[in-house]
Amino acid sequence: MDYLPLCGVFHHRRKATPQQKWQIVLFIICFYGLDDIFCQSRYSIPEEMPEGSFVGNIAKDLGIEISRLISGKARVVTKGGRQYVELSRDKGTLVVKERIDREELCKQTTPCSFSFDLIIENPIQLHRVIVEVQDINDNAPKFPRETINMQISESTVSGARFPLDSAVDLDVGVNGIQNYALSPTDNFKLEINDQGEDNKYVEMVLQNELDREERNEVKLVLTAYDGGSPKKYGTVQIFVSVLDSNDNAPVCEQSLYKADVRETSPVGTVLTAVSAADPDDGINGQVSYSIAQASKEARNLFEVNSETGAITTLDRLDYEAEKTFRLNVKAMDKGGLANTCKVVIDVLDENDNSPTIQLMSFSNTIAENSPVGTTIAVVNVEDADSGKNGVVQCKINDNIPFKIESSLSDYYALITDELLDRENVAEYNITILVSDQGSPALHSNKTLAVKISDVNDNPPDFNFEHYRAFITENNSPGVAVLTIKANDADWGPNARVSYFLEDSDVMGNPVSSLISINLDSGVIHALRSFDYEQKFNI
Ligand SMILES: *[C@@H]1O[C@H](CO)[C@@H](O)[C@H](O)[C@H]1NC(C)=O
Repeated sequence: MDYLPLCGVFHHRRKATPQQKWQIVLFIICFYGLDDIFCQSRYSIPEEMPEGSFVGNIAKDLGIEISRLISGKARVVTKGGRQYVELSRDKGTLVVKERIDREELCKQTTPCSFSFDLIIENPIQLHRVIVEVQDINDNAPKFPRETINMQISESTVSGARFPLDSAVDLDVGVNGIQNYALSPTDNFKLEINDQGEDNKYVEMVLQNELDREERNEVKLVLTAYDGGSPKKYGTVQIFVSVLDSNDNAPVCEQSLYKADVRETSPVGTVLTAVSAADPDDGINGQVSYSIAQASKEARNLFEVNSETGAITTLDRLDYEAEKTFRLNVKAMDKGGLANTCKVVIDVLDENDNSPTIQLMSFSNTIAENSPVGTTIAVVNVEDADSGKNGVVQCKINDNIPFKIESSLSDYYALITDELLDRENVAEYNITILVSDQGSPALHSNKTLAVKISDVNDNPPDFNFEHYRAFITENNSPGVAVLTIKANDADWGPNARVSYFLEDSDVMGNPVSSLISINLDSGVIHALRSFDYEQKFNI
């Protein structure tokens, strides 16, 4: 068909509704052919108008009488699809027949329109009516999921990007998504990348690094806003699980661990337990203990339980050998971060050492005429313990003529306390007893055997004051008359007695002419024959 453009009508008007003002624009372009007339009319209405809502006064717009519409059986013809608009013939108006959902009709296509034909018979007239459907903000932005779960390592550096779901808004234009917001923004900020044509994608950018030990989950809300009036929005919850990284070394709970241990404590005694805290998760927070640095002696004496950090003795301690030990215990997590806990162990003295006596000088024989105060022995007494456990007292057994005196500290002199008499007691066993002041006290003793040497301090002593002997007269010269005996309390040569006659005169005769005495035996012999009538008193 060949149409000639005969008329062009441009018409617009405003219609006010309580909420808003709609601009309904009408364009009519008519093409008049030879036999019939073809006109195209265009209306614009918002979507979602209720049934019966006014679309346009087609009779007036086309300049057709109502009566012509009735006589020509004017009607709306829709090819396929739904008929959204119907003709009110007696009013000459087009009204909404069925609710129009722009999103259903056109999806994201803009502009959105549908068309139908208005046919009037007798003579036949055909009008194409195009209705443009304007978007209203009847859809809120919607995210594909209600929640987003993410796992982000706490070691992630700032600047790392995490793509987020974009929201979808079925509306178009300003009613489509215009903006996004993320809250809170302590750790993440939002970056919106606009690729044009309503195509925005959003990313969360780490701006303050995460710390699992402070917060192991971060909850955020991403909101998408459209540009409608009023604005509609949609939200999605974002749950970020913060994954641990080994960013914490174990930290000793005390700056210094001190333990006191008695030196007599049995092997296996628990002294103390070091403990280091590691706030990391899993193996990153599992701490094991070992001795990092200690003297060879300390390593032989102490061990640390790798799991519990308990420090126990491996052997007997000896205060006298070493009083203080310093250990450095390494606390290491299974991720390899470590710290050192300092331990000081003080060994406490116990009275485990007996005092000792050492003879520095000793003369085992002393002359009986030694003056009072003569030194017999010098001893050194010691006790390896300390404090009262090492304070030593020294004494000797009672009832002997000796005493012990302290000369220098730890040195004692054993001296005579009385004059000695070998003839009375020739030998003494002197026991030196030392005791410390521990509780209970420990003792030692040493016995010195002292001999008293003889001094010739005793004269020989005759058994009798007078010896009387009888001899038969006319004896033969040389006969043994009598034996005299003198004893000497002294010893050895000092006790050997020799007998001599003292020079004397017996009735004019020297005694040595009458008798002789044996030097050794004390036997007296007659030297001449005696006569009863003579009497000698020797
Ligand atoms: C001294 O001790 C020794 C040995 O125990 C003993 O044989 C001796 O008789 C003792 N001497 C005295 C004077 O007690």
